Amino acid sequence: MTRGDSDVQGLIERAAEKIASARKAVALTGAGISVDSGIPAFRGTQGLWDKYDPMEYATIDAFVANPVKIWTMLRELGDLIGGAKPNGGHAGLAELESLGKLSSIVTQNVDGLHQAAGSSSVIEFHGNGRRLICLSCKRRYDREQIPMDSFPPMCVCFNVLKPDVVFFGELIPMHALMAAHAEVEECDLMLVVGTSAQVEPAASLPYSAKSRGATIIEINPEPTPLTHNIADIAIHESATNALPAIAAAVRGLLRE
Ligand code: APR
Repeated sequence: MTRGDSDVQGLIERAAEKIASARKAVALTGAGISVDSGIPAFRGTQGLWDKYDPMEYATIDAFVANPVKIWTMLRELGDLIGGAKPNGGHAGLAELESLGKLSSIVTQNVDGLHQAAGSSSVIEFHGNGRRLICLSCKRRYDREQIPMDSFPPMCVCFNVLKPDVVFFGELIPMHALMAAHAEVEECDLMLVVGTSAQVEPAASLPYSAKSRGATIIEINPEPTPLTHNIADIAIHESATNALPAIAAAVRGLLRE
């Protein structure tokens, strides 16, 4: 814990009380929760989109037009994700699930770190970078199945494979969209961690939860559009600072 320990500690304790007494808590996570695992976020200081214009590198039209160019960026991102390990933020959410106080995580991330930390109920809203898909024949592959020296990775039908992640201009996978809406509609608390809350339709999920009376707890070192609009508790700390402390406080409350 860094700045203003007493006021941050107070927010941690308030958040833990809300989570411990919640009927159904759901988390929404974004790239910020994986920053301390060495994976750059997209926006903000040293954001990936500062280096690569998303409209030139992250739209489905750009991929179809020039897959080799996009795979060059993806290979750099893949090298970062490949070696990444879960951090205290992922572990804190996994502990809340094991305490029975987190129903699911809706994640915008494609790094698989929530599952690696032990979370079992993870809704991958933007797909998963560990899988590849053929846009032509729809075959899916695990990344390990394709030798990475074959660049770009090719399908057995001789078309270029694409990571099984949602590019701008693509739809959210229907199963993920339905599962996320079901969870959000039933929750009475949403923990929003490490997202700039700018990309739809994920950015609408906290508003949807709030409109049903859910308590919104935001963990982000920086303010977002949610902070002053709908956050009931805003903790301006990193996920790795805040989430293990919250999980420990919830564990203590459940023992009482
Ligand atoms: N802990 C918590 N939050 C953090 C941390 C940290 N250690 N470091 C940075 N953040 C916050 C930033 O302040 C920012 O608000 O994480 C947020 C990251 O925002 P984005 O980079 O915009 O990531 P995200 O919100 O997940 O982006 C949504 O945009 O480009 C698309 O598909 C991509 O899924 C992504 C979507």
